Amino acid sequence: MSKNLINFSDLTKKDIFDFIELANNFKSEDSLNYRDENLFPDKKIVSMFCEPSTRTKLSFQIAAHNLGAKFIDFDLSNSSMNKGESLEDTLSAMEMMGVDLCILRHTESVIHDFVKNFSNMQFINAGEGSISHPTQTLIDLMTIHESKEKFENLNITIVGDLDHSRVVNSFIEAIQIVGYKSITFCGHPDLCKNFIESPIGNFEPELETALQDADVVMALRIQNERLSEKLTIGASDYVERYQINVDSLQVADPEMILLHPGPVNFGIELSKEASELENCKIRNQIFNGVGMRMAVLTKLFSQA
Ligand code: CP
Repeated sequence: MSKNLINFSDLTKKDIFDFIELANNFKSEDSLNYRDENLFPDKKIVSMFCEPSTRTKLSFQIAAHNLGAKFIDFDLSNSSMNKGESLEDTLSAMEMMGVDLCILRHTESVIHDFVKNFSNMQFINAGEGSISHPTQTLIDLMTIHESKEKFENLNITIVGDLDHSRVVNSFIEAIQIVGYKSITFCGHPDLCKNFIESPIGNFEPELETALQDADVVMALRIQNERLSEKLTIGASDYVERYQINVDSLQVADPEMILLHPGPVNFGIELSKEASELENCKIRNQIFNGVGMRMAVLTKLFSQA
């Protein structure tokens, strides 16, 4: 395994299962919390989020706290990047100050370009534009693994704004490593242009058909912040055709599980009522975020 986690080309199937096992091992005896371990008191972690985040940043912060590492949140808005300092020079300054690991979220695909220039500081990709978000996918795989025995048997349906989702790209990379039975992509064609003729799965424009045989359904929000053109479908028509709710789920298998990486636009891609069903694992995903990020930090520090 590489000393950085940038995308799934850095990982094998064994690495992915090791992450899931390690994350589960960090659960407390009653499985309601994650244990505090003082494994890395000398490690200094900086989080640098050039895009907003709640789950990713906070769960890394709590994970670092649980492992005894120092967590420093880089204050982008008051940094010298606002005086024109480049990202690369900023990261170099961090490395010279003795930062061990940088958790970086960025609007562009820049993380790959930078990591090779840093021999002492490690990197975790915490979300790159609409390109990749590997730690979210590790959480999603951990959450699926809790409910389903094997990945190889799973019919997976992904619904929503696929073209602008970094989550879907990382998920597709990873699911090809761990195995799957089928993938169905569903959503308005304006938001699924890259998935209509995908070699990985089938595009299904009708939500009801896409939900019918699914073992796992992943709902994705419309990423309004990334849309370059106005959608040709209005909000109420979108809800009518693509919202996952108690009515649309009538056709789903009773054992189906529903995921959403968050944040959720409740009332658009998912109804509040559907999110409260037993099948919905969004709360598990958020909880697992802490354990998986403890596992990621632990495994990467062991590669340093
Ligand atoms: N899923 C996810 O990345 O959420 P945040 O943007 O809140 O970190």
